[in-house]
Amino acid sequence: MTDLSMLSADRPDTVELAAGWRSAYVHIPFCARVCPYCDFAVVGGAEDRMTEYVDAVVAEISMEPEWHRLDAVFIGGGTPSRVPSDQMRRVLDALAARFGLADDAEITLEANPEDWTSTHSDALAGVGFNRVSFGVQSFDPVVLVSLGRLHSPVQAAESVAIARASGFASVSVDLIYGHPVETELSWLHTLDTAVEVEPDHVSTYSLTVEPGTELWKQVRSGAPAPDSDIQADRWEQAASTLGVAGYTRYEVSNHARPGHGCRYNLSVWGQGEYLAFGLGAHSFRDGVRSRRVRRLDSYIERVRSGIGPIQASDVIEGWDAELERLMLGLRRAAGVNAGEAGQALLATADGARLIEAGVLAVVDDRLVAANPLLTDEIIRAVLALDGPQR
Ligand SMILES: C[S@@+](CC[C@H](N)C(=O)[O-])C[C@H]1O[C@@H](n2cnc3c(N)ncnc32)[C@H](O)[C@@H]1O
Ligand code: SF4
Repeated sequence: MTDLSMLSADRPDTVELAAGWRSAYVHIPFCARVCPYCDFAVVGGAEDRMTEYVDAVVAEISMEPEWHRLDAVFIGGGTPSRVPSDQMRRVLDALAARFGLADDAEITLEANPEDWTSTHSDALAGVGFNRVSFGVQSFDPVVLVSLGRLHSPVQAAESVAIARASGFASVSVDLIYGHPVETELSWLHTLDTAVEVEPDHVSTYSLTVEPGTELWKQVRSGAPAPDSDIQADRWEQAASTLGVAGYTRYEVSNHARPGHGCRYNLSVWGQGEYLAFGLGAHSFRDGVRSRRVRRLDSYIERVRSGIGPIQASDVIEGWDAELERLMLGLRRAAGVNAGEAGQALLATADGARLIEAGVLAVVDDRLVAANPLLTDEIIRAVLALDGPQR
């Protein structure tokens, strides 16, 4: 794989390169307890089931037809840092044995700060992880408690330092903004502290009330919901503070120091192919997007019985693939080659209006969301496009 260390993830040449990378996602569903806002495929507790789950993931990997060497592996969750390092080694060994790993493959693990001790960090680096993404969410203790998190701001800062000491080549932190208890001062403090702990990468997500979650039930019962205008201000503050501190925003919610854009995500946004293993995981291979069952018992049973865990698959081809290419690419700061769908958008009244309003821009034949906060408005116009008349 091309050396990315000098390339910036907001550049067209970088993102076009990323479309050709091959990656794999592995989902680890275990969490100490389920956070009130979380809609991912997770199970609270259930430590006693980790080994049988990893057995099933390893079996699913061995069932996958041969493929290319992997440029990036992302082990996400759930909380992969709760799983013992020898079990994580089994997963990485299975991927390496089945597909091979590029010499400089990016190998990421998502982690919760409360799990991160020096011993565990060293062990995971020893197993082969070279990138870690911490779910920090906030450096304000009041916000952390309101989000139902189990770590303190000090633990979050320490986990970044510990990962550095273990030799992780890239360290990322996730932040969430817009909880109703968060004040502007608290968010600015979170951003400043994030900069002080010097991660290589920062993801900033606006708190979303996902249907069915505990937070959703609270809001339905009258608790205050996140305010979208305030969230827009928080987004601006993040982009500005992180920009001044040397982080380039390369996607709506993602900021990186040069050479530290997440290769796995860049590949997905470039419509690159990726395998996926584990509960609820989505893959994209040979133009087919498949999603796996979300219940732990049925996942394990289906893998054991040889049926396989895929619940549904969609063929993404022709015009649908073209629309998807545009929608994924528009989230990147580098934008996307206009291509057939981009030209079709520019020819519509919606397209002209978006250009006129400064929401969409054309830069060297590429479409770029000039106001990233309004990317969804462009995406709605893309979805309304008629297919080509052939
Ligand atoms: C699925 S979590 C897994 C990582 C880890 N377990 C954690 O929670 O820190 C990945 C990230 O998604 C983000 N996230 C999850 N649910 C969210 C929501 N409802 N709104 C905004 N961000 C969310 C959080 O920032 C979190 O770090
Ligand atoms: S936000 Fe993270 S820790 Fe909380 S339930 Fe979801 S995956 Fe688990």
